[in-house]
Amino acid sequence: MVRKEDQRVEKGDARGGAQGRDDNNIIVVKNLTKSFGDNVVLDNISLAIEKGKTTVVIGPSGCGKTVLIKNFIVLLRPSVGEVYFKERRIDNLPESELNEIRTHYGFLFQAGALFDSLSVGENIMFPIVQHSRVTKRERLEEIVRAKLAMVGLEGFQNYYPAKLSGGQRKRVALARAIALNPEVILYDEPTTGLDPIRADIINELILRLQRELGETTVVVTHDMKSAYKVADRIIMLYDGKIIADGDADHIRNHPHSVVQHFIHGQVSEADLAVLRASGAISKAQFLPRDFEE
Ligand SMILES: Nc1ncnc2c1ncn2[C@@H]1O[C@H](COP(=O)(O)OP(=O)(O)OP(=O)(O)O)[C@@H](O)[C@H]1O
Ligand SMILES: [Mg+2]
Repeated sequence: MVRKEDQRVEKGDARGGAQGRDDNNIIVVKNLTKSFGDNVVLDNISLAIEKGKTTVVIGPSGCGKTVLIKNFIVLLRPSVGEVYFKERRIDNLPESELNEIRTHYGFLFQAGALFDSLSVGENIMFPIVQHSRVTKRERLEEIVRAKLAMVGLEGFQNYYPAKLSGGQRKRVALARAIALNPEVILYDEPTTGLDPIRADIINELILRLQRELGETTVVVTHDMKSAYKVADRIIMLYDGKIIADGDADHIRNHPHSVVQHFIHGQVSEADLAVLRASGAISKAQFLPRDFEE
């Protein structure tokens, strides 16, 4: 049962509500609603991301985490509302100007796609050649070596992505994401699909990059171990709203039953009731005779 007082929606904490358009907030979204047809994914969200901090966005699959961070860089445009980068409104800019804004960002997408036909080194060079004035081969190679060292993959520049493990590919994607010395890095599920040790290597890298580069970090995850380890602040999205917003202790002790169920990986009574009522599992089961000749 969700208690009535638990159902309130948190409106951002003291570190930056949507009104907080000051120097400390690098990304601000105001009254953001994003719908696809009738599907209202984000429902009037206001949020400010503080410069130099690590903000983690958690929430169940399909709740709109990826949609939220795509709105940050206007890869998706808000249906209603505004997005600001460093106090400049960007959601209404044309693609040409957005491309320049996006060079201030590094993003590690959920699929983490590398170009398979390019070597690791060429993958990392790609954004540099596209968006900077660096053209000299030696300088490019020097930057590639430095970026690979940052993710612990020295000497991998001539490998092709197909020869790498999932964890190594994520790290190359990360080296590419930091190629242009971004001010903000957006990570979408950086540890998904990795074993616990490799996941923890990614966590350590997120922390290290944050310490060494001092950039602003936003991590989308449903890996609570990762969230607690890297976060200065954790935001939980649910049903289109922010239902929790605070540091790790705030989230651990949050009174909302949806938050507690999520962080402990428990199915809620309401979800169980739906499963029980559906009866879909037994109907979909094979019987031994289905395999007999
Ligand atoms: N381009 C799109 N067109 C239509 N619907 C979309 C589009 N992108 C996302 N959606 C819908 O928006 C909702 C939220 O999707 P989103 O990818 O943000 O979820 P998520 O929280 O990132 O989930 P996961 O944890 O599985 O990655 C889903 O219902 C999805 O189907
Ligand atoms: Mg997602």
